[in-house]
Amino acid sequence: MSEQTPTVTMEKIVSLSRRRGFVFPSSEIYGGLSGCWDYGPLGIELKRNVKQAWWSAMVQERDDMVGIETSILMHPKVWMASGHFKSFTDPLVECKSCHQRFRADHLAENKCPACGGELTAERQFNLMFKTFIGPVEDGSNTIYLRPETAQGMFVNFDNVLQTTRRKLPFGIAQQGKSFRNEITTGNFIFRSREFEQMEMEYFVKPGTDEKWFEYWLNERINWYVKHGIKRDHLSVLEHEKAKLAHYAKRVCDITFLYPMGWEEIEGLASRTDFDLKQHAAASGKVLDYYDEVTKEHYVPYVIEPAVGVDRSLLAFMCDAYTEEPDKEETRIVMRFHPSLAPVKVAILPLSKKENLSNFARDIYKSLRTTLTTQYDDTQSIGRRYRRQDEIGTPYCVTVDFQSLEDNRVTVRERDLMQQIRIPIAELKKTIEAKMAGEDFLKLPAGGEVVQTKTKEG
Ligand code: GAP
Repeated sequence: MSEQTPTVTMEKIVSLSRRRGFVFPSSEIYGGLSGCWDYGPLGIELKRNVKQAWWSAMVQERDDMVGIETSILMHPKVWMASGHFKSFTDPLVECKSCHQRFRADHLAENKCPACGGELTAERQFNLMFKTFIGPVEDGSNTIYLRPETAQGMFVNFDNVLQTTRRKLPFGIAQQGKSFRNEITTGNFIFRSREFEQMEMEYFVKPGTDEKWFEYWLNERINWYVKHGIKRDHLSVLEHEKAKLAHYAKRVCDITFLYPMGWEEIEGLASRTDFDLKQHAAASGKVLDYYDEVTKEHYVPYVIEPAVGVDRSLLAFMCDAYTEEPDKEETRIVMRFHPSLAPVKVAILPLSKKENLSNFARDIYKSLRTTLTTQYDDTQSIGRRYRRQDEIGTPYCVTVDFQSLEDNRVTVRERDLMQQIRIPIAELKKTIEAKMAGEDFLKLPAGGEVVQTKTKEG
């Protein structure tokens, strides 16, 4: 792992998130709820785009994958069989003076980090949230909010196999909320108590698992880089063999250089046949695979890439954040990959006069059916550009009085602030082509370059 200094502080990300409406503390008017966060108007667009980018890469663009969505509440026997009931725990210590509780493995010293007091001996604290199902609140009705989405895939293995007639290797993917009663939360949305996961269980023939582990490690690193994460901000941390969980044959964390240092963004685990065998034994159902080539029944092995939506969104925000000098001020630019940017296009009429507004609004309406578009006619054009830069909008379209005459508009791109003027009839197609990677200065018929790589005044 390379020793590098993070390029942005958490304060800057939190402040931008708050200021522009990406993320707010949950129940803020009541003082917030520890470890819970709300996504604002831009945050939800960004989050949906992150999830869509993962779903496209992991499910829609592949022949060997299907998606499912399982319920958050599952039969309590699921968690007995999976081992979560017994061992999904973190070591807890409590300060004997101020009674604050801490995760023992997160402490540098054996004393209270708040008041310096003496700590109790460690005990194991189960992270699953408990609730009751139905109207009677007694022990026999206790159930748990799922702490991972993965078990939904294992308990549906046979349903998917029977209904889709898949051949190995194949994967089942899911996105959804998970809940962990973390002893300590913190670092903004990095570690929370309610969060979203994107997990995939890839079922393979035993003996081919090592090859598939390497394959998925590469695929997942490439996915981050393709969507804007700097390659040298990613690293792989191999877990020591001696410390692996009982079911795991190999585990690697993909780590990212967050503002607080290198931390796990995604886990990749080789889970062997542990989960399917556990559920088969506990449920009495057969959970195996008939290999038509070798004519044998066996329980597949599993490779699992598991990532938190919120954690990856935070990483995308950190690597998008840039500041550049801009006259006496600073230009803050979120250089999101266009597929992730919460707003793709902003329509900026140069005057509020009715004839120009109506004209600009028609352009806005024609774009917003397929591209998330904002309409902004307040303040100077310079300020409007800066507002869009700060939320990462890749393209701004200015509509001026000349547009009424020549049916052309000026498109300005975020990163180098280059500008082209093109026919309105070509606008949607041109923006879509640029978003897919076409050179910004490549013009459609009737277009001209207005400005190349020069700074705006
Ligand atoms: N099914 C395997 C599993 O859940 P994990 O490493 O515990 O593995 C996978 O979790 C990913 O979920 C992590 O890499 C992280 O991105 C995310 N995650 C886990 N706990 C989290 C929390 N408390 N807050 C936010 N994200 C979390």
